[in-house]
Amino acid sequence: SMLVRSSASAKQAVTRRSFSSGSVPERKVAILGAAGGIGQPLALLMKLNPLVSSLSLYDIANTPGVAADVGHINTRSDVAGYMGDDNLAKALEGADLVIIPAGVPRKPGMTRDDLFNINAGIVKNLCTAIAKYCPHALINMISNPVNSTVPIAAEIFKKAGMYDEKKLFGVTTLDVVRAKTFYAGKANVPVAEVNVPVIGGHAGVTILPLFSQASPQANLSSDVLTALTKRTQDGGTEVVEAKAGKGSATLSMAYAGALFADACLKGLNGVPDVVECSYVQSTITELPFFASKVRLGKNGVEEVLDLGPLSDYEKEGLEALKPELKSSIEKGVKFANQ
Ligand code: NAD
Ligand code: LMR
Repeated sequence: SMLVRSSASAKQAVTRRSFSSGSVPERKVAILGAAGGIGQPLALLMKLNPLVSSLSLYDIANTPGVAADVGHINTRSDVAGYMGDDNLAKALEGADLVIIPAGVPRKPGMTRDDLFNINAGIVKNLCTAIAKYCPHALINMISNPVNSTVPIAAEIFKKAGMYDEKKLFGVTTLDVVRAKTFYAGKANVPVAEVNVPVIGGHAGVTILPLFSQASPQANLSSDVLTALTKRTQDGGTEVVEAKAGKGSATLSMAYAGALFADACLKGLNGVPDVVECSYVQSTITELPFFASKVRLGKNGVEEVLDLGPLSDYEKEGLEALKPELKSSIEKGVKFANQ
């Protein structure tokens, strides 16, 4: 059991705080799985985020080194590393936002669901602790299979009597990041201007990019749109195969995770019109969890937005994804209640 604080002493932290403008609220962000392939670059990116005042890095191993390293960066937040179960309470206490990239990644030939047996238990334990030590925090779930780990979290929170569906998010931002990148390449438009909603879930065919709603619009053939859809759905597998046994997306995921966490913090701070796609409890389809555009606010989810008009191809994709997403949700619910 071990706790490491960055070089900034408590006294320095207090001094710095008293000089701050006062317009940016204090926000503690905890990363669970912070020493992993995603966790380390995500810790770096959150250390660079001026909305964070306290960065809490938790893992079962190696967090002292990550915290000491990231803690030397001269940005706003204090950094603390926590290692092992005995320190999980301290890592979580006072957290406004908990980001969870803890768990094993895929190897070539595996589906995300093949990770269920290991990651479901990890998520269950971490969520049990969250319920106890920071029940009001927003949760950004990255651990796969997201289609099941989010329902697991919801069930654990219900059992603990503190479930607030507005505060639980499955992170699907990487699907949006990929859809934007791939679309910009084919549509020959500046990638920074591109927006594409991605709905459904976060595995294979459950990932449904809505290129009919992409902006700026481009006149792409149905063959190109089909290829773009498939590449977005298989984006994770593309990286798993390229890494050839050394894990799955970590750097692009850290970028996407930092983007979504920033949107959550902006929402908490009352910034208007913060909209991102996320996998949340939902009534916009018959499925209890579904990814779509979500407006973020001071309490988390402010509004789950409608899907908007879908092309015939997207309507087919929507119907085709429902059985798999439904069974992944049910598998998570069953696991949490067994
Ligand atoms: P990794 O193996 O490099 O890192 C995982 C980290 O989790 C390790 O440091 C490990 O020690 C830690 N960990 C294990 N059990 C823990 C526990 N009980 N408490 C705290 N930490 C624990 O894996 P990675 O590449 O960082 O991927 C992590 C997860 O994120 C995987 O499940 C992966 O499939 C998923 N992922 C999701 C997305 C997405 O879009 N949502 C994208 C990429 C990866
Ligand atoms: C991704 O989309 O990159 C992640 O879900 C990791 C994976 O297993 O594909």
